[in-house]
Amino acid sequence: MREDNQSSKLDFILLGASSQKEQENFFFFLFLFIYPITLIGNLLIILAICSEIRLHNPMYFLLANLSLVDIFFCSVTIPKALANHLVGSKAISFGGCMAQMCFMLALGNTDSYILAAMAYDRAVAITRPLHYTTVMSPGACFLLVVGSWVMGNANAVPHTLLTARLSFCANKEVANFYCDIASLLKLSCSDIHFNVKMMYLGAGVFSLPLLCIIISYVRVFSTVLRVPSTKGVRKAFSTCGSHLTVVSLYYGTVMGMYFRPLTSYSLKDAVITVMYTAVTPMLNPFIYSLRNQDMKAALRKLFSKRISS
Ligand SMILES: *[C@@H]1O[C@H](CO)[C@@H](O)[C@H](O)[C@H]1NC(C)=O
Repeated sequence: MREDNQSSKLDFILLGASSQKEQENFFFFLFLFIYPITLIGNLLIILAICSEIRLHNPMYFLLANLSLVDIFFCSVTIPKALANHLVGSKAISFGGCMAQMCFMLALGNTDSYILAAMAYDRAVAITRPLHYTTVMSPGACFLLVVGSWVMGNANAVPHTLLTARLSFCANKEVANFYCDIASLLKLSCSDIHFNVKMMYLGAGVFSLPLLCIIISYVRVFSTVLRVPSTKGVRKAFSTCGSHLTVVSLYYGTVMGMYFRPLTSYSLKDAVITVMYTAVTPMLNPFIYSLRNQDMKAALRKLFSKRISS
């Protein structure tokens, strides 16, 4: 078993989500419980959507892509946290730490752009139902997904390169269970003024999709209030509740974390990061499938096909 004090001088130490032993065990079992549920839940969503021809439309393709991002998103942090706890080590290599930071930023941003694409999709379906199939064509849908990945990476790679250039001196204890940009900047012994400015700029860019979501839903609600009884509108509106729940969970926790001064960060905040890194990706499949009859039917069909074959 590798001891912390034997780890390389270049390694970082991940303090975990808590400083107390009992709480550490609590988070270990929480992650052990959450991770398989997240993987299976999101995988089932993807399988159900891909195998059901009736769900081959933009709304469900975007949902399947969201599930795909969520699978990657929680796989960047949780397996490492679980493995470290099992072998009794807290070390993470410099490269591993930078990779973790980069993937978290990229996937987190991609997630928010896909949520924005989903809001736009609903806005088109409700405000311009007659043009829906031409506006949300397969090509446009593909472009929205690729665009989300490109924008996500564009808001991750520069921050990672800027952080990798910093010097880290004696203190290498990251006050979180993964290498998160704010915790790393706090540790550095270089001048971080520029990095901090860039981080806030990045947080601003991260909010652009939220602006798009808000505009989309203002248009959705104004249309629904004007023509409340149309059957098509009501059907298109039925998934908006689930979508808004996911958006508020995700943005609420991320903004609670990043929209404040760097000096106020502490280990306590690791609990907030647990919310958006682990809990939200786990809840997404349930939020979308429990209230959605088409999704439930597709899942039932998926299971009965497996059982009969
Ligand atoms: C993601 O979206 C694209 C474009 O609509 C679609 O072709 C693809 O099947 C989706 N991915 C998944 C995993 O469903």
